[in-house]
Amino acid sequence: MSSDKRYDMAGLSATTRLDPWLEQYAQRTRGLSSSAVRALFAVASRPEVVSLAGGMPFVSALPMDAIAETTARLIRERGNVALQYGSGQGDPALREQILEVLAPVGVESHPDDIIVTAGSQMALDLVVRVFCDPGDVVLVEAPTYITALSVFSSYQCEVIHVPMDEHGLEPHALRDTITRVRAQGKRVKLVYSIPSFQNPGGVTQPPQRRREILEVVTSENVLLLEDDPYGLLSFDGTVPRAIRADDSEAVIYLGTFSKTIAAGLRVGWAVAPHGVREKLVLANETAMLCPSNLTQMIITEYLSTSPWLDQVKVFRELYRERRDALIESLAMYMPAGTTWTVPTGGFYSWIDLPPGVDATAMLPRAVAARVAYVPGTGFFADGQGAHSLRLSYCYPEPDRIVEGVRRLGQVVSAEADMAELFGTTDALSSHRPPIAPTSDMA
Ligand SMILES: Cc1ncc(COP(=O)(O)O)c(C=O)c1O
Repeated sequence: MSSDKRYDMAGLSATTRLDPWLEQYAQRTRGLSSSAVRALFAVASRPEVVSLAGGMPFVSALPMDAIAETTARLIRERGNVALQYGSGQGDPALREQILEVLAPVGVESHPDDIIVTAGSQMALDLVVRVFCDPGDVVLVEAPTYITALSVFSSYQCEVIHVPMDEHGLEPHALRDTITRVRAQGKRVKLVYSIPSFQNPGGVTQPPQRRREILEVVTSENVLLLEDDPYGLLSFDGTVPRAIRADDSEAVIYLGTFSKTIAAGLRVGWAVAPHGVREKLVLANETAMLCPSNLTQMIITEYLSTSPWLDQVKVFRELYRERRDALIESLAMYMPAGTTWTVPTGGFYSWIDLPPGVDATAMLPRAVAARVAYVPGTGFFADGQGAHSLRLSYCYPEPDRIVEGVRRLGQVVSAEADMAELFGTTDALSSHRPPIAPTSDMA
């Protein structure tokens, strides 16, 4: 069938549009537009650009030979299981081991209450799928994880941001927002929070703050979705206790092997209250029948045959060194009026620019100066964040980080001078489509 014929059958008016199906997409895809920022990221992946944009783990530090041998052996000796369909809830052996991985964050559970998914991103998607109808409200931190916003948008949720301070999500503001939203006749379905080494804010909720947040969600009867990909990557080795550790009914906890083992294996999990678990398993089966047996078995072998906590320590030290390079060079190269968070773990620091400097308007100039970042507006559903940006230090080597910050410092200084002369740098960029994430932006 020719493409013209298909075009006629769809009943679309004849235009010269590149995508003849443009008017056929479901409403839920509306927030998933590509953007100028995405196009710039294609340029930013060139080797001469220092990318402080992507959240890609530094997988080169993994014991590649050992993982290669394990994988080959699994296929040779147990190929008829590894290459077969498996359980929709995830391999029981791995679910047992996840209990051990959860021990440092204080979560006690049962293998029955764990669902293995294709990364925690998938778990996030499943939770929203089983809880949210179009128009339901999800409360999130301000700012929050960019691809979580895409999930909420694709299920047509209304996203409302709750302010954070240097200790993360503010409990009083959370309670006030719940009250206000309910008074408008809307249903608050989830509070989504990243309590440890937040993406993108780089802040961590101290224990008291976690207790207060738990008190708010339990007294208001709202489910807390606790996303914890970075918890084990604490620079001083003190792993924050998960909120889920203190309440197994009010909290769904998401974990992943992406940051501690390998993102490319795509293995994450949810720990959910028993009833919720059942719904999530059905949703998992609907989405993908079952998670990959092969990658689950690789993880199981890795956890049982190698000192995996020592490898986590290697990652911690490596990321701490990169965090130090970032923070020291920010102090050296950023103009007055720039502020930043100092993360105690994880991958990210949040930068507030001098007055009048617009991070989206500045991005093409930064990429031209061979440095990239993610503009702040990407981390909000409501247009906030124009004068902020996120820097990731996880992937480039320390000397590249220093060079990237030096380049960025020059660009920010020039923009700050312009802003002082003309008031703001965003005059030419009034059109702000939402930023659609790419996987290397994670
Ligand atoms: C806060 C947060 N949640 C979830 C994810 C998804 O991780 P994965 O699907 O690889 O487990 C990421 C990845 O960067 C993240 O930063």
